[in-house]
Amino acid sequence: MMQIDILCAVPSLLKGPFDHSILDRAQQRGLLTINVIDLREYGIGKHRQIDDYQYGGGAGMVMMCEPIFNAIASLSEKGDYDEIIYMTPDGEQFDQKMANQLSLKGRILILCGHYKGIDERVRQQLITKEISIGNYVLSGGEIAAAVLVDAIGRLLPGVLNDETSALFDSYQDDMLAPPVYTRPAEFNGLKVPDVLTSGNEAAIEKWRDEQAQLRTKERRPDLLD
Ligand code: 6GU
Repeated sequence: MMQIDILCAVPSLLKGPFDHSILDRAQQRGLLTINVIDLREYGIGKHRQIDDYQYGGGAGMVMMCEPIFNAIASLSEKGDYDEIIYMTPDGEQFDQKMANQLSLKGRILILCGHYKGIDERVRQQLITKEISIGNYVLSGGEIAAAVLVDAIGRLLPGVLNDETSALFDSYQDDMLAPPVYTRPAEFNGLKVPDVLTSGNEAAIEKWRDEQAQLRTKERRPDLLD
């Protein structure tokens, strides 16, 4: 059973993504609990302020220490976090290996940045891991957090129906997945490779291996290094 809390400034961005398909099933089966918390609940004063101008000047607001510290202190009362993750474009690049590692944790908090980012002191004192999902800039960490939760959630034991199927994902062995086909056996003049309809399981496995190798060599030679 894994618990993921997501602390963010724009919780409505996370309304949809977890309520469908595989992540919905993970929650229905009690294998995963996702809790989205609005940072503004911990905002300062009657305006529930969570950001302020940056010292030294410059455009863009910075998320303040106090609401984040208060939120995390309050949420930690229900149990310590194994990891407190900050989603940020200058974090460590997310990949399948990191998803595998995080899927073994029991309770994690994901903090989503917004505006110019968060006060550096939050990073120094509270954050245990900083993650980026790629070399581009998003307007906030929420969508990046959704990517993380999806990649982790589907790996939890019992979430995928065929437990072995995650083992054959692209990237699971630094290898892209082979092509797949379904009915009809011929479409627009294109036939399904004979081996897949041969019933010869050993031959099928060999073909899939070869195709995965070929695909990886053509598209992502960097993975083979
Ligand atoms: Cl985690 N956050 C933001 N704002 N932009 C990103 C990112 C995260 N990862 C890549 N770009």
